Amino acid sequence: MKALFRPLLLKWYRKSARDLPWRRTRDPYRVIVSEFMLQQTQVSRVEEYYPKFLARYPTVQHLARARPKKVRETWEGLGYYARARNLHALARTVVKDHDSAIPSDTETLQTLPGVGRYTAGAVACFAFEKREAAVDTNVKRVVERVFRTKNVWEATERILPRRGKTVWEFNQALMDLGATICVARKPKCPVCPVRSACKTGLKERRPRKRQ
Ligand code: ADE
Repeated sequence: MKALFRPLLLKWYRKSARDLPWRRTRDPYRVIVSEFMLQQTQVSRVEEYYPKFLARYPTVQHLARARPKKVRETWEGLGYYARARNLHALARTVVKDHDSAIPSDTETLQTLPGVGRYTAGAVACFAFEKREAAVDTNVKRVVERVFRTKNVWEATERILPRRGKTVWEFNQALMDLGATICVARKPKCPVCPVRSACKTGLKERRPRKRQ
């Protein structure tokens, strides 16, 4: 059963991936900005503010040089300003301590302001195509349901594909599945691409086969 999950998910993603601006880049700065924005804000709103923020601060150096008040103004509309403060502090740390290069390993990433295990994994994978898990709320829900496990990080790490490029797709796919099909309140099991590999969805009522 478990063996099918990965190919089913990848096949679905390759057909129905959401075309999102931060998926068209591997620039670590752009990936980090998107991940900070996506932490507490829905995709549609981030799609609106992300290009504006990057037009104003196109590189980590631009952001590091900015005045806090200006950064806050540019963040206006996204809310949860602690994220903007952390992102600004992160830019300054990267310029000062890392030669303006965003680190690629999850351990160093986690020393940066506002970067926890999830964001570190997301940046390592989405910017550097490293073989790392990135478990946010959506991914956690998917993995808990599919494998009926509480050790979500461990379970996710175990099922990662071999190649970094495929891990990139796999992690994005888990996010899309959690955001569009395996949603919190009423999961759409009847149309789920990985249903046959899911320990929870199989228990749901199937649509009747018509004669
Ligand atoms: N939420 C966090 N990261 C995301 C991504 N890369 N794509 C869609 N939703 C996300």
